[in-house]
Amino acid sequence: MVDLSVNLSGLTLDNPVIPASGTFGFGYEFAELYDINILGSFSFKGTTRDPRFGNPTPRIAECESGMINSVGLQNPGVEKVIAEELPKLKKCFHKPVIANVSGFSLDEYVTCCEKLDKEEQVGMLEVNISCPNVHGGGMSFGVCPDSAFEVTKAVKAVTKKPVYIKLSPNVTDITEIAVACEEAGADGLSLINTLLGMRIDLKTKKPVVANKMGGFSGKAIFPVALRMVYQVYEKVNIPIIGMGGVSSAEDVIEMMLAGATAVQVGAANLVNPYACRDIIESLPVTMEKYNINSLQEIIGGAHNG
Ligand code: SIN
Repeated sequence: MVDLSVNLSGLTLDNPVIPASGTFGFGYEFAELYDINILGSFSFKGTTRDPRFGNPTPRIAECESGMINSVGLQNPGVEKVIAEELPKLKKCFHKPVIANVSGFSLDEYVTCCEKLDKEEQVGMLEVNISCPNVHGGGMSFGVCPDSAFEVTKAVKAVTKKPVYIKLSPNVTDITEIAVACEEAGADGLSLINTLLGMRIDLKTKKPVVANKMGGFSGKAIFPVALRMVYQVYEKVNIPIIGMGGVSSAEDVIEMMLAGATAVQVGAANLVNPYACRDIIESLPVTMEKYNINSLQEIIGGAHNG
């Protein structure tokens, strides 16, 4: 019997597979398809203090082996998430969830984290300082070590649960940002968010996405994400949740060898809503194929020797 369990800042997950924020709604939508309690955990849609309608449409552009999104943090706002979404989720998911939080000011991050930290089902907070689709917030906090430090410190001051900071790949050196977050007290890091990209429609000669640019995700970005997880693992001593183009059990194992303790699956859920279930089901046989008995034991294995 192989062991799929991992430990993430004191939370034991049955397996390392976590649907990424923005690709799995608030969970209950997918519970109509399969029993989502098989998941390690999941990260719900990025939540802001006020409700957000999101960006104008079109928001999606298809690409070879991936897609561009410019959703713009559409969500009902933290009060409604707590009053309406979490109770629905509680009925179908009986494990701790990851609350993904976004903001446009330090104060907004603090308010949202303080409120979600009090929710029983929230096992940890994932603070998104890397959304490329909004102006004056999101990624602007994640491209400079000082502001990443500031957000982390402010959020840590109002929370008791583990705080993971979600990092942007759209920087010169992601390890500098990672180190700043660790120094400010982050319990862990999530990486990577999407890569800023664009497509132009040859018929209209205009950008496909109304916001012109958006976040590129999907299989094509896996090698970039893997490289960044590998580099960050060498510089910090806190756990990493690896993500970016993960779509198979093999990808999960590769991410863990690079240094991830758990792995999020994003765009793959939009191609196949059963992607996470399929990955979890094929992990044991894939582990046996590569003589792996325990996933916890392979974390960072590519760095040894
Ligand atoms: C979005 O809502 O625009 C996506 C969130 C993100 O990329 O962080």
